Amino acid sequence: MKPFLSVLGVLLTACLYVVPTLAGENEKLCAVIRVDVGKHTGIINRNIYGQMVENCGNCVYHGLWVGKDSKIPNIRGMRKDVIEKFKAINTPVVRWPGGTPSEYYHWLDGVGPVEKRPETLLPGLCLASPGETNAFGTDEFMDFCRLIGAEPYICANVGTGTPEEAANWIEYCNRNGNTQYAAMRKNNGHPEPYGVKYWGIGNESYFWHTPKSYSLLVNQYAKIMKTMADTSISLIAAGHNDPNVQYGKEWNYEVLKNASEFLDFISLHAYYFYDDYYDVVACPLKAEPEIARLRKLINELVRENNKLEITMDEWNIWHKEAKTYNGLMQKCTLMDGLYAAGMFHVFHRNCDIVTMANFCDLVNQLPAIVTNDEGGLYVNPIYLAFVMYTQHTGKIALQSDVEVAGYRGTEKLHVAYVPYLDCSATLIEETGHVSLAVINRHQKQEIVTEINIQGLRPGKKAKIYVLNAPEVTAANDFDHPENIVVAESSFTGAGTDFTYTFPAHSVTILELIPE
Ligand code: AHR
Repeated sequence: MKPFLSVLGVLLTACLYVVPTLAGENEKLCAVIRVDVGKHTGIINRNIYGQMVENCGNCVYHGLWVGKDSKIPNIRGMRKDVIEKFKAINTPVVRWPGGTPSEYYHWLDGVGPVEKRPETLLPGLCLASPGETNAFGTDEFMDFCRLIGAEPYICANVGTGTPEEAANWIEYCNRNGNTQYAAMRKNNGHPEPYGVKYWGIGNESYFWHTPKSYSLLVNQYAKIMKTMADTSISLIAAGHNDPNVQYGKEWNYEVLKNASEFLDFISLHAYYFYDDYYDVVACPLKAEPEIARLRKLINELVRENNKLEITMDEWNIWHKEAKTYNGLMQKCTLMDGLYAAGMFHVFHRNCDIVTMANFCDLVNQLPAIVTNDEGGLYVNPIYLAFVMYTQHTGKIALQSDVEVAGYRGTEKLHVAYVPYLDCSATLIEETGHVSLAVINRHQKQEIVTEINIQGLRPGKKAKIYVLNAPEVTAANDFDHPENIVVAESSFTGAGTDFTYTFPAHSVTILELIPE
């Protein structure tokens, strides 16, 4: 036994004995984390770090898009600083035009000479959008995706649109040759097809259709979109995550049973509505049974040779403050960063089936980045969680487990048991480093943790990245944009067996470097 183990022996035996148990706020805690680098549990698709932009609130207009004549530094109308932020988190895929606006959006309004594009009406439902001038249309979205190096994901209109309109949009984006809409794109100055791979069939369609009528529509849309316009695209149907909301009980069953033939993905929208610290940091655990239910249905209803994956193509946390009339603006604090890290762990654990996710929305709406019309910008802890996970975790998910006490979720949360630590271990293929990401949800206590790494001999020196602040309600703002940052340091006590103390209410990534 290593010397440090004998020192901690008594403590750890007690620790193992109490696991998994409930622990009070003031109890001293210890934990054990085991990682087996030899056991790969899956490949994490980087598309889980995707984003969404939509014309709601000040997300597109007054956020990403300021127009070419703006005094704010921009590239062809898009804010340079916002572009840099998308690039810094290696954004792999962006969903647009919504969300809610996609069901009112008619793409022909947003192509061609800008001065000829109509101003169109967006209903109040579009969450206090400043209006739709159509200055940011398909070609601008493609320009944006290219600037940040992301794949475009377009959501077609099934609320007020038609299958034909969706197929024509694909023709505009993806076809060569001289057919009407391919020729239109060329005339608009874009000779090469964009090759848009991901196409959604409606957004939250349970607010527009019954399960049966939507299934019929999916078949119609899918047939014409895929077999006529472009056979190489991937199609995403709108799924349902909440059995207690309209049609929630039968929606996914009907869609998968009747309309999965041409589908590649079914989506879930994971929105949680909490303000209290222990609810906020635990609510990612609500996503796990939602994924499990959908996984079961896919296994039961979708033919074996037709692999269907899940995209969580909207996810975020809403606080009381976010209201339709304020364009879903809310103050985001440290606890939201812990929430986002928790969602990444859920995606990692389900990486065999959750292969895309889109945070909604990166800019100015339930925001990860906040801008103002004076050229100011700051990032929230959610954005900092994206920085940590996109830069310091790997693609290969590793077997890991944690033994630690937890707390009972509140009645409102509907999660019976919440472990204080949540971990995800991954292998960074390019460097051979092991990334161990750990969330300490305890609001008051640091947690002394024995870490055991099998299948790799880590050297003593490790890199450390920490998201934390003195208070869980700490935040950045225009006057204090760096109140919270990701703290980088190094640690010289790593190895096959070592102890590390995870500070209260924090996210830590330990990057272990082989000897
Ligand atoms: O972004 C907020 C809105 O919430 C999205 O547009 C919609 O899809 C969801 O209900």
